Amino acid sequence: MPSVPSVPQVVAHRGASEENAEHTLLAYVKALDAGAEGLECDVRLTADGHLVCVHDRDLRRTAAKRGLVSTSNLEELEELDFAAWKNPWADLDDEAPERDRTYDGVLTLRKLLETVADYDRRVEVAIETKHPTRYGGLVEKRVCEMLHDFGWVEPTGGGPSPVRVMSFSHTALQRMERLAPKVPVVQLLDKAQYWPLLRRVMGPDWIVGPGIELLTEHPRLAERIAGSGHDVHVWTVNTEAELRRCQELGVRAVITDRPAYVLGLLGK
Ligand code: G3P
Ligand code: CA
Repeated sequence: MPSVPSVPQVVAHRGASEENAEHTLLAYVKALDAGAEGLECDVRLTADGHLVCVHDRDLRRTAAKRGLVSTSNLEELEELDFAAWKNPWADLDDEAPERDRTYDGVLTLRKLLETVADYDRRVEVAIETKHPTRYGGLVEKRVCEMLHDFGWVEPTGGGPSPVRVMSFSHTALQRMERLAPKVPVVQLLDKAQYWPLLRRVMGPDWIVGPGIELLTEHPRLAERIAGSGHDVHVWTVNTEAELRRCQELGVRAVITDRPAYVLGLLGK
């Protein structure tokens, strides 16, 4: 365990998603305004091959629609409101801002990356590919093509790419590493028993991303991961106790639904 607590990077999980509808442009703009140093987003492919920031496979929870992201075209998704579920009474509130599809509609990965690229300070993006195995590598290929468009696959000037790719799927990360060896990858971990196997097959520079519950249930896990030479990024860190525990363990990044609160606790 490090003698000095770490000061982790603060990454907004699905945007500032405690107070705003997750994965909307509004949630990300609020996170940026709060000072978030990184943004986390889940990506899925639409039927017509666009990468959109949506967590669930189906549209019911966040867009009140029957159907799947993977069988919908982007144009169909653009008609949906992805924020009403979070504040269903907004239409009855005279003070509430008008609904605006730019801020409450479906968010494409391209629009999110453009927002980050145009921002006036460096912001990192942690892209999580969801169910990538189903498409035989197409998700990673599309992510990689998009990063090329932004010049973030082989960043010039020697600096590291502002983007990293995360997945629970080891196969997906291996593919990503083959396509873009300079883009960091994060092996997400939701069960401690996977660690002994994963540590033998992952690259030396891979980052490891355990859930905060794992670190509570297995007090020595973070130490073991760090002892193998891997940086540790933890999700989803929403309380002061969780944050302080991460700092004691030397965690390098925390992914949180409450970026303003966590930044405040860190005095940033
Ligand atoms: O940051 C990793 C974390 O987001 C993984 O879980 O379900 O929130 O995508 P989930
Ligand atoms: Ca995620």
